[in-house]
Amino acid sequence: MCGIVGVIGNGIKAGQILGECLRKLEYRGYDSVGVATLSSGKIRVLKGAGKIDEVDARLCFSCLEGDVGIGHTRWATHGPPTDENAHPHTDCRGRVAVVHNGIIENYIELKEELVRRGHSFRSQTDTEVIAHLIEDNLARGHEPYTAFRETVLRLKGSYALAVLISDTPDRIYFARRHSPLVIGVGDKLVFLASDIPAFLEYTRKVIPIHDGELGYASQSTIVIENIKGEAISPEGRVIFVDWTPESARKEGFPHFMLKEIHEQPRVINDTIAGFGRDYEMGAEMLHSGDTIFVTAAGTSYHASMYFALLTAKLTGRKVIPFISSEYESYIHSASSGDVLLAVSQSGETIDTLMALRAFKALGCKVVSLTNVIGSVISRESDQAVYMKAGPEIGVAATKTFTTQLTALTWLALLIAQRGGRLDAEGIKSTRERIKALPDLVEEVIMKYEGWAKGMSRLIAAKSSAYYLSRGLGLPIALEGALKLKEVAYVHAEGYPAGESKHGPIALVERGFPVVFVSVEKSLEKKLLGNIEEMKARGAFTIGIIPQGSELGARLDEKVVIPSRDEVLLPILEIIPLQLLAYYTAVEKGVDPDKPRNLAKTVTVE
Ligand code: F6R
Repeated sequence: MCGIVGVIGNGIKAGQILGECLRKLEYRGYDSVGVATLSSGKIRVLKGAGKIDEVDARLCFSCLEGDVGIGHTRWATHGPPTDENAHPHTDCRGRVAVVHNGIIENYIELKEELVRRGHSFRSQTDTEVIAHLIEDNLARGHEPYTAFRETVLRLKGSYALAVLISDTPDRIYFARRHSPLVIGVGDKLVFLASDIPAFLEYTRKVIPIHDGELGYASQSTIVIENIKGEAISPEGRVIFVDWTPESARKEGFPHFMLKEIHEQPRVINDTIAGFGRDYEMGAEMLHSGDTIFVTAAGTSYHASMYFALLTAKLTGRKVIPFISSEYESYIHSASSGDVLLAVSQSGETIDTLMALRAFKALGCKVVSLTNVIGSVISRESDQAVYMKAGPEIGVAATKTFTTQLTALTWLALLIAQRGGRLDAEGIKSTRERIKALPDLVEEVIMKYEGWAKGMSRLIAAKSSAYYLSRGLGLPIALEGALKLKEVAYVHAEGYPAGESKHGPIALVERGFPVVFVSVEKSLEKKLLGNIEEMKARGAFTIGIIPQGSELGARLDEKVVIPSRDEVLLPILEIIPLQLLAYYTAVEKGVDPDKPRNLAKTVTVE
């Protein structure tokens, strides 16, 4: 959903550094890219439609002089991906350059006003008004920071902004509302970015910028204030992230998605090692609520659905999962004694944030599970807990999903303990069982990567597939279908297996692939019935099944997971389906790291 970056430092090559940072942010948008630097009082801009390697090869970002600059990688919202619509945007006189992530909702009225005042526009974007408005304020005699501040006060909508003004060559101005923004403090250079991986090669010292804050950074000073003009101490905000620069590189893998699938044993282990007091407090808060609501989007929603099914099964509690963009429908049945669990790997998804705010406004307590310390969702929740997946660069969620499942399983067990359904001994033994996960995940990857590669040839030739399951396996079937659809562009639908004969089966004909996911032994007989129904219509049946399952004999293809433990199975069973989606994309010659039309963090509603 667009990535922005800024860098300032004495004697640095800003153009080159911006190019490096933008490559790390490309997962946020990749239809256009651009940079601007400021040197000898002049702003120079290079930008164009296309992926960063193409545009950089054409324009040469590192050839730009200057030790201060801003950059942008775009995921189009207003105006198609063209050279003109690429950021940075400038005013008529070239005094101001702006990069922006978000949507300016009142841009049409601002544009009309500026046109009346003699400004002419070159792009169809909402962002360009910001550059003109700053210039307009400068022309009225405001000093640069006031001109920037006055502009920000007039913007409605969402934004993370980085701005150059030629009058102040030693500053980058910034502001944030709803869209993410962090400062990285390096050795003699300072960064602004949408996300930490942008500058991880240079520093792990991070200052998160909160909603409604603005200011400017120079090489030696960082000024932050809130919208009321009250100063905020940057020192009080500093966090040191434990992510490594290697984690944001491919390290020999052809794609980030494959690298991140292979990282799962390690990051699941890290997540388990991080189960501490914050999880206890989160579980206590969830346990104390009347009804537990759980909300998320996309893959995180599948993890949330799993949490709801597991917690209800373990505790008998009422747990209601809902897709966060639908929160207006769910808020009617919530009351102040309820509790919300918000799940988001990025911690920035706007729909999830809006749901969180609506529940908080009602008086509900909110627990969050995110992967990013200091993200807005974790900050705005009453209790934050974290997975330890490290940065995920592939647009499709893989390691963040399995670490979410691991963390949510642990939370469900802690709630069960508080509800008297699991004693200390039960908790201890389950924790021991969970500790077996990293080795089992490793084993599944080793055993079934070759299978996924082979099967991808068959799936790549198909136009559709179903993923069916029952009970605790259903979120895994939904996630398997989403992965195939989003990275390999094969239409895939996840469905409750029992529901398949109420409509979906109409599409099934000879060779139609149907993937079955089996978790609960008690549901196997019914699943077998669904396999027979599909086989009778000529479907090609693939099963992801536990060790010792009776389903194997009736399937055309089977992946036997080396476990029968229902607490671990869902986490293990998604692995072959992630690999299948990845290799199908590769087989079709499409880039699994950058699926068309998608952005990693969705910061517009
Ligand atoms: C799919 C995917 C998305 C995200 C969704 C929520 O592979 O990555 O569906 O899961 O956009 O994102 P977060 O978890 O950051 O809130």
